[in-house]
Amino acid sequence: MLVFAHRGASGYAPENTLKAMSKAIELGAKAIELDVHCVAGELVVFHDRRLEGKSSGHGLIHLSTQADLAKITVAGEPIPSLWELLILLDTLTGGDCIVNIELKGVGCVPPFVAMYPHILEKLHFTPQHLLISSFNHLYIAQVKQQLPQAFVAPLLGGIPLDLAQVVTDIAAYSLHLDVAFVSQAIVDDAHQRGAKVYVYTVDNSDDIHALKMMGVDGIFSNYPDKAIATAALPLP
Ligand code: G3P
Ligand code: MG
Repeated sequence: MLVFAHRGASGYAPENTLKAMSKAIELGAKAIELDVHCVAGELVVFHDRRLEGKSSGHGLIHLSTQADLAKITVAGEPIPSLWELLILLDTLTGGDCIVNIELKGVGCVPPFVAMYPHILEKLHFTPQHLLISSFNHLYIAQVKQQLPQAFVAPLLGGIPLDLAQVVTDIAAYSLHLDVAFVSQAIVDDAHQRGAKVYVYTVDNSDDIHALKMMGVDGIFSNYPDKAIATAALPLP
């Protein structure tokens, strides 16, 4: 079972920061999940659409400027750009790490499509290492259309009437499901369509065992070290 460090090792360090990413690698994570928004044409790593709550800033993140962001911190840590975060992961792992880039905010697709060839050219990641997901299925359909080699994944917050049909519709590599709604029927349907199934956000060991029993291929956890250890245990 693949374990993604959710927002980096966010149980141990401020989420989506460079510190959370290096902590995840230090703890043995082989896969990382992070969230991106677009600020003045540049992709930055942050979860919420508003700055207040998780950072020292205020307002909608996509309406801020790079100068604003430079002054804002998340529990004392700077908000990284996607590019600097990828350089860090490349340096720490030599590109031997799966990076799930979740496109969140307004205007994320054009800068990501522009950045993608540079990632492959300048860093050690291959298309298999870069998994592009979003709750906004239009975003990932657009990414797949413009970057046919890209590995893409729709996120679902519930169970649609047509189960995993979206996997076929957008030629997805994987389907990312909420642990609150995951069912055997959608897991099996995704597998029959040739997709992996990854489930968020799973920190509880009973949940990890239950998902393994269902044949789920991976999970997103805020405590990747504990999740890796639990996932490695034989099923009861
Ligand atoms: O990508 C999995 C998970 O991160 C999706 O939900 O809100 O934590 O970004 P959220
Ligand atoms: Mg996310």
